[in-house]
Amino acid sequence: MIIQTEIRVISDRSNLQAEDADLLKVAHNAALQAYAPYSQFRVGASVLLADGKIVSGNNQENAVYPSGMCAERVALFFASAQFPNTPIAKIAITAIGNEVELSQPVPPCGGCRQTLLEYETKFDKPIEIIMAAEKGDIYVVKSAADLLPLSFTKKTMNNEQLTINN
Ligand code: THU
Repeated sequence: MIIQTEIRVISDRSNLQAEDADLLKVAHNAALQAYAPYSQFRVGASVLLADGKIVSGNNQENAVYPSGMCAERVALFFASAQFPNTPIAKIAITAIGNEVELSQPVPPCGGCRQTLLEYETKFDKPIEIIMAAEKGDIYVVKSAADLLPLSFTKKTMNNEQLTINN
């Protein structure tokens, strides 16, 4: 078995759909407000809900390091807390570096991928993930499953067909 992932690479930002460019702008503005005194690595994430609403989050650090939280999960948990019945359509992720201007797309960490997959499974609707930095290429994948193949979900516990990826 070979698992493949399709990643759309957007090198020219003017080729980004207006909706995605707007979502990314919201993520960037969220990153500006991150609470990241320890890493100085400010991450912003914005979630587009199926009804068009946008919510955002940023990383929240803590002197007790594991008590902090990633931007993606802050945004996703806020979305789920406020609008529990509204599916999630997309998430845009970006970051602002400490000393260098970031040019490599910022992918979600493993824990955030698992969280994305949870909501994807809950609503049975793929979540598009837009990964960007301050400049440089933007990567887009069509679903969280693309970034977390052979995943553990509620389907696993129900002995349903494994999700390899989409
Ligand atoms: N961080 C995120 O917010 N999202 C990720 O997907 C990876 C890492 C945050 C956590 C921490 O505050 C800082 O970036 C450095 O790891």
